[in-house]
Amino acid sequence: MERTLFELVGGEEFFLKLVDGFYQGIETDEVLSLMYQGHDLVQARRHLALFLQQYWGGPTTYQSERGHPRLRMRHMPFVINADARDRWLDHMQASLAQLEMPVHAREELWNYLVAAANSLVNSE
Ligand code: HEM
Repeated sequence: MERTLFELVGGEEFFLKLVDGFYQGIETDEVLSLMYQGHDLVQARRHLALFLQQYWGGPTTYQSERGHPRLRMRHMPFVINADARDRWLDHMQASLAQLEMPVHAREELWNYLVAAANSLVNSE
């Protein structure tokens, strides 16, 4: 049987590290830090990590706790323009760069993040 990307990268630990590194970037970002203000960042971290794990073939805890992802709807309260998208992707890229993973898995994950971030732009 083919291994899922979740397994290939080493499971939960990888996604926790990815999200931790990402949020370190968010905390220092003058635009995005304002967007996350007032949010429980422990929960925000957890939800993003659970979502990504589920998407890549890991446990479906996200679905059990949060229901259907409906990401576009959940991001409507935030003004996501091209600048916000690029900043978000920059922090993901910086965090990903710190982590070991097979080249093809890195490409697959990155292409997905770019497409997903593009799909969430909701403002010019
Ligand atoms: C394009 C730029 C993006 C911005 C500015 C952005 C911003 C945010 C903000 C402010 C939150 C609320 C934090 C919280 O309380 O959870 C959030 C939640 C979330 N975001 Fe994003 N996001 C972006 C892209 C993405 C992408 C590409 C994904 C998935 C690949 C994603 C997945 C999520 C998830 C799973 C949640 C938690 C949803 C829930 O409540 O269960 N976001 N995002």
